[in-house]
Amino acid sequence: MTATLRDYSLAGPENRRAREAGLAGAPWWKPPIDEDRLVELMTRSNARAARDTALWLGGIIALAVVIVLSWFSWYSLPLLFVYGALYGGAADSRWHECGHGTAFRSTAANNVVYYIASFMLWREPTMWRWSHYRHHSDTIIVGRDAEIIFPRPPSVRSLPLTFSNVVNGPRMFWRMTKHAAGLIDADAADFIPASEHRRLIVEDRIFVAVVAGAVALSLVLWHPLPVLLVGLPSIYGGWLVVFFGITQHAGLQEDVLDHRLNTRTVYMNPLFRFLYSNMNYHIEHHLFPGVPYHALPALHEEIKDSLPPALPSTRAAYRELLGALRQQSRDSAWEIPDRPIPEVPDASLSLVDHGPIVPEAAQTAVAGQVDLGELDAIAVGRARRCDIGERTYALYRLSETEVAVSDGLCTHAAAHLAEGLVLDGVVECPKHNGRFDLRTGEPLRRPVKDPLNIYRCEVVGGRIVADLSTTEPATDDSLSQPKETP
Ligand code: FES
Repeated sequence: MTATLRDYSLAGPENRRAREAGLAGAPWWKPPIDEDRLVELMTRSNARAARDTALWLGGIIALAVVIVLSWFSWYSLPLLFVYGALYGGAADSRWHECGHGTAFRSTAANNVVYYIASFMLWREPTMWRWSHYRHHSDTIIVGRDAEIIFPRPPSVRSLPLTFSNVVNGPRMFWRMTKHAAGLIDADAADFIPASEHRRLIVEDRIFVAVVAGAVALSLVLWHPLPVLLVGLPSIYGGWLVVFFGITQHAGLQEDVLDHRLNTRTVYMNPLFRFLYSNMNYHIEHHLFPGVPYHALPALHEEIKDSLPPALPSTRAAYRELLGALRQQSRDSAWEIPDRPIPEVPDASLSLVDHGPIVPEAAQTAVAGQVDLGELDAIAVGRARRCDIGERTYALYRLSETEVAVSDGLCTHAAAHLAEGLVLDGVVECPKHNGRFDLRTGEPLRRPVKDPLNIYRCEVVGGRIVADLSTTEPATDDSLSQPKETP
């Protein structure tokens, strides 16, 4: 069969087609999971991420010192190989986890490591943040997802080139240089809000300047080490990003709304799992991006019966994906046959107890006052979705005595906030990890930019009573007609 060519750009006709087909910003399948267990798994820890980051960064620094002190010996090249893998390869999963804001409990620590890892990968911090939000909204949706590695038909012959990173690395640097000069391309403009362009330009200028500094130092000293240790590892270490990264989605289905069909979970050995921060549990990560990397194996145990069997090894994953790429290079429509998908009811709309579904008659005599049930029916640190007529709200218990009520849908892309993590008076959206202050509605973390409506509420005689009369809350309609998600 003749391979047909699709336009994978985000500024092309496939973008419109995906939106018209209801594939953009759509709800995704989710497995059932015990709510208490999910909250436990989403809990963040600074200690675990600090230990893993210290091992990783400490390894890079130690290797750099040995390389400098022993230059040039018979083992300099093997050491550079390992240095490059840690610097330009293992940085990928650190970039990823800190970008989600889940690696550390501390926001500042996540941001610091995110910027360091972005630099190591020549990934523009702001552009890739927004690109990755889109990747989670529209995973492997053609015309929407900027992170599709193998457009169909894939070229198997160019795989060595992909692994070597000698084309893609410089291409990424060139794009960063153009953005640093203020020339934002159409694909980037599709998913980065205009309000973020200034930040993008400034960050890219700093990154380009640091790389230029390393090149200049090499020229001044007339020695290769500065640029071999800062700058070039982003190219010669990039093979590890590809080695792990293509196991995630390559050869699986496009344009579906079920991560079991377009994402792979692979069992890997402890070394690989350290280098890759457990991202081999990739279906689990896409289903619950609020779960930090160190809890993904436990999450896998909770939901594995709802998922296709994990590939037993990296080798098995490569056998499957290389076979699929080979077939798809001849026939774009070819799909991996017999991937067993367990029949499990879709829990995407029932993951969280809906809480009180309050009929009109249950409203108190004062207009707009609604009885949302007993205080003791909701545990501290938990949220409940409350559907009232056509509207949806979220009710939170912040402490023994304090409750909060907000619109139920995230102002970014209409995810149900009651499924998010509630911590220290803040709710984290389950879809892209955006955060809101539950006392003021203020957006605290990208991608959310618009504030959340917060309603007056109080505890009266052990019952929660809210005044929902003062604002125009979001409705569930916005779920079926998603807002445009940059
Ligand atoms: Fe994107 Fe909430 S839907 S952060």
